[in-house]
Amino acid sequence: MYRSIKPTAASTKTQAAVLFLPAGTKSLPPGLASDYTSNILDQPDTSLALEWTRTLYSGENRRVIIVGIGDTNKVTADTLRQASAKALRELDKAKLTTASIHIFGLNDSLGADTVGRAIADGMSLANFTFDAYHGKSKRPEKSKREKPTDLKVVIPQPQRAGFKQGLKVAEGVTTARTLACTPPNVANPKYIANYCKNLAKKTGLKCKVIDAKKAKELKMGGLLAVGAGGSTPPCMVILEHAPASKAKQKPLLLVGKGVTFDTGGYSLKGDGGKGMKYDKCGAMNVIGAMQAIANLKIKQRVVGIVGLAENMIDREAYRVDDILTFCNGVTCEVTNTDAEGRLVLADCLAYGTKTYKPAGVIDFATLTGGVVVAMGKKIAGVWSTDDSLLGKLKAAGDTVGEPIWQLPLNDDYRKMMQAKHADLHNSAPVREAHATQGAAFLSYFVGSDAPKQIPTTPWVHVDIAGTSNTDGGTLMEKGPTGFGVRLATELAATL
Ligand code: BES
Ligand code: ZN
Ligand code: ZN
Repeated sequence: MYRSIKPTAASTKTQAAVLFLPAGTKSLPPGLASDYTSNILDQPDTSLALEWTRTLYSGENRRVIIVGIGDTNKVTADTLRQASAKALRELDKAKLTTASIHIFGLNDSLGADTVGRAIADGMSLANFTFDAYHGKSKRPEKSKREKPTDLKVVIPQPQRAGFKQGLKVAEGVTTARTLACTPPNVANPKYIANYCKNLAKKTGLKCKVIDAKKAKELKMGGLLAVGAGGSTPPCMVILEHAPASKAKQKPLLLVGKGVTFDTGGYSLKGDGGKGMKYDKCGAMNVIGAMQAIANLKIKQRVVGIVGLAENMIDREAYRVDDILTFCNGVTCEVTNTDAEGRLVLADCLAYGTKTYKPAGVIDFATLTGGVVVAMGKKIAGVWSTDDSLLGKLKAAGDTVGEPIWQLPLNDDYRKMMQAKHADLHNSAPVREAHATQGAAFLSYFVGSDAPKQIPTTPWVHVDIAGTSNTDGGTLMEKGPTGFGVRLATELAATL
């Protein structure tokens, strides 16, 4: 793992040349071809398919790393992210600290910026690892280098701007993934709020914390109930990016579920919540996106709100049958304390839409197991009130490789969430349309008309329960993906 990836001057003499080669390449341009490299292209097992790679020596203690990108006509940004991840892993294995990238046979339609970004994405996503808690026991396979060093990368001029931009976004992705990995005995609501305050100082973002006392004044009954049994009190953090010229603009509002640990509460999860430190990923990804948006100086006002609470069993914890009142006056009977994310988000959405009158709202949440069953771990399920905002988000997702797919939301689904003794219940008595129940519940909180009708505020709910973490592959090791950071940043950049 490298400490960071840095672009460097074209004149730098590098330890390795990384060649991205399409299948069928028969010869290399002069300067890069040596006897050895020309030879390899003739070998029958040189497929140059995606994921195929060879590291060769080319004299003068220099290496040539050949990375296949497959059929030229099928190369996409995804292909390049994959190939760049592979290249990073080869460089890391050989402990190299400088490399120059050479790209061949690309389809012109991709565009230099896209190519540069994809390379930065792939390299930085593959570079991530979380070793802050490796103790003193010797695990040589985990500490490849005594001290982490930077990887300096020479990138061809046309792709350089995109590459640099990609690296800036990557900082936000790394923040999100690191926070997601940070264990629940450390990353409690208070820790995350402090992290946000520091981040704001470093990036120029504005930061406001609504602590539990203030939340009580504001009648945020959902946030307070879910966090009542937690090791530190629940809170809401608001990060704002407001470029001077756009200070009064209606913002894009990003909202994230930050349940720092989800035991299920009294509706206890069977395994006590193994892996549920990732239940804060929606919020961590919003924090990462805000960092990236500030880093890129995006010319758009963006507000990020995260609801932070720890869902625990305790004398103070909320119960099944409790009736809660949210800050927009809507009430809810708790039918399952494990459907807690929607209770936290309800107050965030109601407060955020009332306070900031956003032009559009996107929320990210590891909300339901149902979305994992329906969609798997590569595509996020989304529900929306606005085709135009949804279209833009979908396009952004396709660009950055964080794909989304729409599921339906209508009054029938909203009715499923209505209760006898309160306006709503947080989980319907039937398991039908499980993931959509979550979306339908949230729809009661997006803007002032939301309690009465499907909201008119443009809104997309993104359920990242499946996509927020991966079992591991070439692009990312097992663990959190930061899904939503690149998506939200791209949306903000293209709105
Ligand atoms: N955090 C979970 C959802 C989840 C499940 C995230 C699997 C990641 C992987 C959420 O709070 C939850 O427990 N949802 C319940 C809702 C149900 C009780 C209505 C679920 O999905 O089963
Ligand atoms: Zn839960
Ligand atoms: Zn949860």
